[in-house]
Amino acid sequence: MAQDDNSGAELAAADSSHAAHASDASPGTALIVQDAFENPGFPAHRPRVTDENPQREKRAQRTVYTLFYLSILGSLWAVAAYMLFPMESNNPGDVRLNNLFIGLGAALALLALGIGIVHWGKSVMEDVELVDERHPIGGSPETQAAAVKVFTDSDRESGFTRRSVIRNSLIGAIVVFPLPALVLFRGLAPQDQLPVPLLSHTMWRKGTRLALDPSGAPIKASDVTIGSAFHVIPEGLNDLEHGKLDEKAKAAVLLMRLEPSELNELPERKDWSYDGIVAYSKICTHVGCPVALYEQHTHHLLCPCHQSQFDVANHCEVIFGPAKRPLPQLPIAIDDEGYLIAQSDFTEPVGPSFWERH
Ligand code: FES
Repeated sequence: MAQDDNSGAELAAADSSHAAHASDASPGTALIVQDAFENPGFPAHRPRVTDENPQREKRAQRTVYTLFYLSILGSLWAVAAYMLFPMESNNPGDVRLNNLFIGLGAALALLALGIGIVHWGKSVMEDVELVDERHPIGGSPETQAAAVKVFTDSDRESGFTRRSVIRNSLIGAIVVFPLPALVLFRGLAPQDQLPVPLLSHTMWRKGTRLALDPSGAPIKASDVTIGSAFHVIPEGLNDLEHGKLDEKAKAAVLLMRLEPSELNELPERKDWSYDGIVAYSKICTHVGCPVALYEQHTHHLLCPCHQSQFDVANHCEVIFGPAKRPLPQLPIAIDDEGYLIAQSDFTEPVGPSFWERH
């Protein structure tokens, strides 16, 4: 009970002090000065083992540059693995080995680089504690001089200039690290062909039959009822031994049939459709996702990636979303047996609009 009384007295004292202080300050900014924390200062400095034992310091330095050399080895191994474990055969086992060994090389490179940098900072760089007072942001000569001093001090403390083996091995590791990415990106395109002409043409030729994806069965015009939509590939695509997926990624087509009276065709494309059946590239002109959703009643095609919409009744012009140009149209006709065939390749590059510039 006595304790309760004391607590009450302290609270009353604090309240009166608060009230006295608050009377000089605007509402909402008053502070109880006695509540401010004392600055505890720095804890006592504890030297590291590398500060006290020169042999341990040497060992730490060796560890740091060994890690940087390991990083270089990892990057080089990733490049070598790309050559040693090719995946051109499209065999899943080869692809797995290729990914595994490239990944191990890149992981080793990044891990050794990261650990080396941390170990350098914790064990080899000078261990001093500093107070950096806040100061106004500005470019006064004093500030610039202070910045130069910081760099100079950092250089002295880290030994960046002095410890040339560590510095050079770090620079080597950083320079070599992007090498696997460069090799991998170039490897995405066939080595003996230029990427731009390769992407400008597809498998469609005059007379190539339109076939169902994925079975490859040719499609008769009479099979395409009004309101239906088909996913289409060129006949013969499934027989390709190499590059089947690359060719499909360019040649995939959507086939739809509308009432001929609902089609608003461009004058120069009047003979590109057959009795209300039209074929358009399935590759979105934004960034190349497959445009896979067809709304039968509105005749709109929707790309699920970023919601671009194309109006099939109006030569697939863009009516919504980030795509910048209509889907390219494949000119079609029928052959003697009533099968749908292409009149030619696309007359413009399919896919993202970038390729249209070439
Ligand atoms: S890829 Fe189709 S909208 Fe972005």
